[in-house]
Amino acid sequence: MGEDNIIVGIDIGSSKTSVAIVQRDLNELLILGLGSAPNDGMNKGTIVNIDQTIKSIKQAAQEATLMAGLEFNQVNINLPGEVFFENSQGIAAISRKDREVREEDVNRAIEQAKSRDIGNRSIVHVFPQYYKLDDYSNIKNPIGMSGFRLECSIHIVTVPKINISNIVRTVTKAGFKPYQGFVNSYASSRAVLEEEDKEGAIVLDIGAGTIDIMGFKDGYPVLSSVVALGGSNLTKDLHKCLGTTFSTAEKIKIKYGSVVPDMVTDENIEVPSYAKHGIDKLNKKEIARILEPRAIEILEIVKKNIKDRGFDIEKFSFCVLTGGGAKTKGIAKLAQKIFGIPVRVGYPINVKGVVDEINDPAYSCVIGLCLGDEVTFTSDKKEDAILAEKDSVIRKIGNIIKDILG
Ligand SMILES: Nc1ncnc2c1ncn2[C@@H]1O[C@H](COP(=O)(O)OP(=O)(O)OP(=O)(O)O)[C@@H](O)[C@H]1O
Ligand SMILES: [Mg+2]
Repeated sequence: MGEDNIIVGIDIGSSKTSVAIVQRDLNELLILGLGSAPNDGMNKGTIVNIDQTIKSIKQAAQEATLMAGLEFNQVNINLPGEVFFENSQGIAAISRKDREVREEDVNRAIEQAKSRDIGNRSIVHVFPQYYKLDDYSNIKNPIGMSGFRLECSIHIVTVPKINISNIVRTVTKAGFKPYQGFVNSYASSRAVLEEEDKEGAIVLDIGAGTIDIMGFKDGYPVLSSVVALGGSNLTKDLHKCLGTTFSTAEKIKIKYGSVVPDMVTDENIEVPSYAKHGIDKLNKKEIARILEPRAIEILEIVKKNIKDRGFDIEKFSFCVLTGGGAKTKGIAKLAQKIFGIPVRVGYPINVKGVVDEINDPAYSCVIGLCLGDEVTFTSDKKEDAILAEKDSVIRKIGNIIKDILG
C-alpha cells in the first residue's frame, strides 16, 4: 500500500476526540481506522486542560491505530474555537504588452486582498470567490484571458494565533506532527456537501459546545462563524430539571430526547436503571418540553449571529445540520420552522469502510480533515492551511508554526 495516499485526521472536540486513518482513492475515502475517546479537556472549543486533551488524543489514536494496523505521525487537525472572516477585494494591473492574465497576476490580486490588519490572528483559509476583468464580472478562472485590470473577491478565514499555538502544542505533545489545520465548519462542509450544494448551502456543525457555521454561495464560502452553544446546553437543562447527574441526563437525552414535543408520545416510560437513583418518573413529552425552549433559543441565536455578519439565513437555498447534535430528534424540523428554508441532516459522503460510524454526523469533521486541501486554494498559495512541512515532500510552505511558536 502506498503511504502517500494515507491521511490521518484528528478532530479535538468539546465532548470527544476522534481520529480517522483513511486511504484516499480519487474521489473516495476508504476508512481504515476510526477511534474516539471522551475529551474532558476542552470547553466550548477552547482547551482548558492540556493533559486531559493529550490523554484523549492518545486514546482515540490508539484505537484507530489498532483498527488500521498502521502507525502514523503526520496529521491534519481541526482548529477549534473562535473564527472570523472577511470577504475582501484585491486589484492587479496587467501591465505586460500582451495583456494576458497569468497565475502571478491572480496571486498579486489575492495578495492585495489579503493584506489587511488582522492583529493577533492568522489567516488559515483563503477561498477565491470570483474575478472581474475590466468590464467582465463573475469569472471563475481568469488565467489566459486578456485585460487591463484584474479584480478578485476572496473569502478569508482567520483564527486567533493563540488558539492555533495551543492546539498545535497539544497535538505535538501527544506525539503527532500537525500538518494542515482546518476550521471545523470547513472540514465538516467538505465531508457532507456535494459540489453543487455549494451554490447555496449553509452548514451548521452542532457539537457539544459549539456550532460551527459555514455559508456558501455560487460555489464558494461567503460566511464562516461560530456560536459557543451546542448539545451540552440541552443536556444541562435536563440535568437541572430532572435533578440527575449530567451524564445521566446525557444518556436520557440521547435515548428519549426530542426538541419537538409533538413528535413523541405522552406516556410514562420505564426509568432506566442508570437513572433510578435520581428519578422515579420519566415521560417523553415532558423531556421534549424541557428541551424545546433551549433548542429554539439556540437556533434563534444562530440566525441572529448570521444576520449580524451581514447575511439572512432565508437567502441560503437550504441548511445542512451535522455534528453529533444533528442527531437530536426533531432538530431538522424545528430548524426548518425557525430558518424558513429546507433543512436536512448531513452525513459524510463518498466514504467507504467497515465501521458503522462512517454514517454518523458526529464524524463529519474528522472525515473532512482527511480530505486535505482542494482546488479552492489558490494554486501556489496552499500554505494558508499548512501548519508544518509535509514529510518527504518538498514544497513551498508558510511559516505559521514558526511565527507562532517563535
Ligand atoms: N442521538 C443524539 N441525540 C441528541 N444529541 C446527541 C445525540 N448524539 C450525540 N448528541 C449530542 O451531540 C453532542 C456531541 O457532538 P459532537 O461529537 O459533534 O461534538 P464535539 O465535536 O465533541 O464538540 P464541539 O464540536 O462542540 O467542540 C453532544 O452534546 C451530544 O449530547
Ligand atoms: Mg466538533
